[in-house]
Amino acid sequence: MIETVSVPLPGREYNIRVGQGLIASAGAEIAPLLRRKKVAVVTDENVGAIHLETLRAGLESEGITMTALTLPAGESTKSWPHFTRTVEWLLSEQVERRDVVVALGGGVIGDLVGFAASVLRRGVRFVQIPTSLLAQVDSSVGGKTGINTSHGKNLVGAFHQPSLVLADTDALGTLTQRDFLAGYGEVIKYGLLGDANFFEWLEENATKMAAGDVDARIYAVKRSVEMKAEIVLRDETEQGDRALLNLGHTFCHAFEAATGYSDRLLHGEGVAIGCALAFELSSRLGLCPQEDPSRLRQHLREMGTKVDLADIPGELPDADKLLDLMGQDKKVVDGQLRFILARGIGQAFVTSDVPRDMVRTLLQEALDARR
Ligand SMILES: NC(=O)c1ccc[n+]([C@@H]2O[C@H](COP(=O)([O-])OP(=O)(O)OC[C@H]3O[C@@H](n4cnc5c(N)ncnc54)[C@H](O)[C@@H]3O)[C@@H](O)[C@H]2O)c1
Repeated sequence: MIETVSVPLPGREYNIRVGQGLIASAGAEIAPLLRRKKVAVVTDENVGAIHLETLRAGLESEGITMTALTLPAGESTKSWPHFTRTVEWLLSEQVERRDVVVALGGGVIGDLVGFAASVLRRGVRFVQIPTSLLAQVDSSVGGKTGINTSHGKNLVGAFHQPSLVLADTDALGTLTQRDFLAGYGEVIKYGLLGDANFFEWLEENATKMAAGDVDARIYAVKRSVEMKAEIVLRDETEQGDRALLNLGHTFCHAFEAATGYSDRLLHGEGVAIGCALAFELSSRLGLCPQEDPSRLRQHLREMGTKVDLADIPGELPDADKLLDLMGQDKKVVDGQLRFILARGIGQAFVTSDVPRDMVRTLLQEALDARR
């Protein structure tokens, strides 16, 4: 069964299709968008080796020819050199203003290729075929695209909505267990920020979803993108509510910076740890029930993902340095740290009203627990 979630942004409407076999049937899905039967596909080495030929066959079955660029896998590909290479390659393939570019891969490829499409000939359309859990539930939807620079993550980019998203849940079957669980950090975030029923559903079903249950995977991806689409519709360019999607991220970005954006900590792992800390902070501020942080931590433990700072291998800086790193987050406004806190599971809100000492103590205790 294929589910469809619509993103009805005026003038830039698109569908997110969720289900099995969507890479193999991509030709039929993409054909209505094409003015000529040719697409340029960008992927990474890991995904390309497994899924590119299925995509080629799926396109060919509808008479669509495909050229492909395969980039190295990993966060360091979201950089100026690979961005330049991608744009130059698209130009050398004579991609025209009315053509469609396809991003086949995880969040790294989606962000990079979306940004390339946003500037190529002042903007060409692009299709996201997200292959990681994180990309299916989060990065492929909503139009944030970009690259990292020496100054930090995602500091250069554009809002550029895709014309179609094809989330083929079969692709999740070839992810490593660690990458799958990292993506789960973003799934649980949706339950925590706005849907207590979804959180409960995940408590009951996420283990079988991780083990490969197809219906559970389709439901989890669909419910996540529904929630993301609702928030993006309310606030496309993050003037308000879209910041809720950053639950756990102020902490996460500091930990990612502290670990050098290395594989000591994957983004979604940092989000899970950050969500646990955001709920602990909410509880200490008397905002949410005391049992909520432990309920969340217990669930994350059952899933086998990272939960605490103690789960990050190697050295970490002290609490003051971590606080400084949190202050470098690009969501800081007028020097004020912004947090997403919660009045309970499913009830997140944005605030700058958090005593710095309290955050410092929380971080210090989390660091002490590593010893
Ligand atoms: N644009 C947004 O709104 C948004 C939101 C969240 C995260 N992001 C960005 O997303 C990026 C992280 O995305 P990610 O976790 O997908 O990372 P990623 O793209 O690096 O993918 C993770 C790893 O999984 C591999 N992989 C992907 N799909 C696979 C498959 N089906 N089978 C086998 N291997 C597969 C990749 O090659 C890579 O090694 C970060 O750069 C983050 O900033 C963007």
